[in-house]
Amino acid sequence: MCSIIGYYGNEMAAPIIVKGLKRMEYRGYDSVGVATESNGQIVLKKGIGKVEEVNSKIQLDVLPGKIGIGHTRWATHGKVTEVNAHPHYSTSGKIAIVHNGIIENFEVLKIELEKEGYIFKSETDSEIIANLLQKNYEVLKDVKNTIIKTVAELKGHYAFVAMFENGQLAAARFHEPLIVGIGKNSYFLSSDVLGFIEQTDNAIYIENGNFVIIDKSKLEILDFNGENVKQEITKVSKEFADAYKGDYAHFTLKEISEQVDTIFKAGESTKDAIKNTANQIKNSKNIYITGSGTSYNAALIAKHILGKYAKIKVDTVISSELQFSSDLIELNSTLIAISQSGESADVLDAVSIAKKVNCKVISIVNSLTSSLARESDIIIGMNCGPEIGVAATKSFTSQIMIIYKITEELAKETFEIKYKEISESISKILENHDQIRHIAKEIKKISDIYVLGRGIHYPIAIESALKLKELTYIHAEGIPGGELKHGPLALMDSNVFVIIINPNDTTYSDTLTSAREIKARGAKIIGISDKKSDIYDYWIEIPKSNEISYPILETIPIQLLSYYAALEKDTDPDYPRNLAKSVTVK
Ligand code: F6R
Repeated sequence: MCSIIGYYGNEMAAPIIVKGLKRMEYRGYDSVGVATESNGQIVLKKGIGKVEEVNSKIQLDVLPGKIGIGHTRWATHGKVTEVNAHPHYSTSGKIAIVHNGIIENFEVLKIELEKEGYIFKSETDSEIIANLLQKNYEVLKDVKNTIIKTVAELKGHYAFVAMFENGQLAAARFHEPLIVGIGKNSYFLSSDVLGFIEQTDNAIYIENGNFVIIDKSKLEILDFNGENVKQEITKVSKEFADAYKGDYAHFTLKEISEQVDTIFKAGESTKDAIKNTANQIKNSKNIYITGSGTSYNAALIAKHILGKYAKIKVDTVISSELQFSSDLIELNSTLIAISQSGESADVLDAVSIAKKVNCKVISIVNSLTSSLARESDIIIGMNCGPEIGVAATKSFTSQIMIIYKITEELAKETFEIKYKEISESISKILENHDQIRHIAKEIKKISDIYVLGRGIHYPIAIESALKLKELTYIHAEGIPGGELKHGPLALMDSNVFVIIINPNDTTYSDTLTSAREIKARGAKIIGISDKKSDIYDYWIEIPKSNEISYPILETIPIQLLSYYAALEKDTDPDYPRNLAKSVTVK
């Protein structure tokens, strides 16, 4: 959601912080701010917009001092305004903080602090941290005890970095990520390794319930009781430094194009994990698969494929819904959690519910050092490199490939993945930019798009609708073909476009019949198929394939169509409004 960063070192802090924030902007991007300490004073600049925009207006990177903090915001409490942007000063101006997460008891604390004369300028829950720290620091006169007292008073999920006017930095982690980067004569405190990867690949992943103090170039890690904690330094994969667009206009386009290669790499980073997963599945009575958004759509594919080819019955649960049906999770079962970021609060919550009933947790995750990976018994890495575009693209097809690999391990005789064929087919579809761009122009003025699919193509229809919504802000809905006559047909008229996912497999003729019924009501039809039909107003051809490869091949043109329609609508495909890449709040 938001990203936080702190820097303590020998170089000017502000430019380093601004660079780190640009790399982490995928986490949240409605406003940005930087504060630095110089000669015992804290100075601060902040504004509304993306890092680049705000920096070119008010030069966030021109602030004095070698110690500083920074933030990109994704609003939860209070509108997107300059006042609500972080960092926030405490009332005295002697402490400034940046915060990611939610302080649940901020209203109670605010009333108490206001009675004592503390002033609040913003509508945020975060500002409470600054004033609470000031109150405790004025009594205790020591950063360590101030943090211990403050975290004992806060309720919620948070990671924050606080800067004191004497130049000390402190940061605490409670159910939100916090990573220390250890450079040459410098320290970083960050929500993500991307915040400091250009400077160092030495990192300490702060455990939940711990805090950090940096003072006179000394780093101390303590738990919330004040006991010193020893934590290992991890070498972070330099691959994550590769978060540049290169020659591409947007990360999203780059990431769509990378799928030619990423489908080969899925699951390769974690040795034996696929085998171990297959064994765990074989020996478990109940299997549940969970995820949110796109990752949940991948879970629906898993249900279909594992059931059909490996004869394994699985239940899928939307992560945010599990808390309301937790009784369904049987003791000693297996939960497969799918998450690109490994930081989605809903997914982590589902995992903790499952763990309470002694479930084994298998994660399919892109970040091997994420909170989810660290909660798992078996980790399967998507290995698709950083995905910066907020809408999931390459991570989705990597998730599907991993599910396929597990299925192949369980059903060697009946299931075969044709990697080379899939990759070549993706390349072919990617040559089709001009036609897809033309269709994107046609859909740009439409207010409703429906996507129809049957069988395994239904999850792809839902995923397609999600992509269209996120990138184009057009209302889009996935419909199982057979359900058309049970209601959605009432919506069909000449004002809508319907995308028919219609590969030439067992679903073909039924889906074509649905297309005919829709066309008879005047709607425009976009057919995604390897077989041409006069019913389609627009035919997006995909190479001839089989049930296993089709879901991946169908996904690519929809990703491209969503991307180009976003450009036509003049929206930012990398950073859709109101969304964030890592949804670390519930
Ligand atoms: C869709 C999208 C979101 C994520 C969802 C889960 O394009 O990006 O729906 O799929 O927020 O995120 P992860 O996979 O990181 O748990």
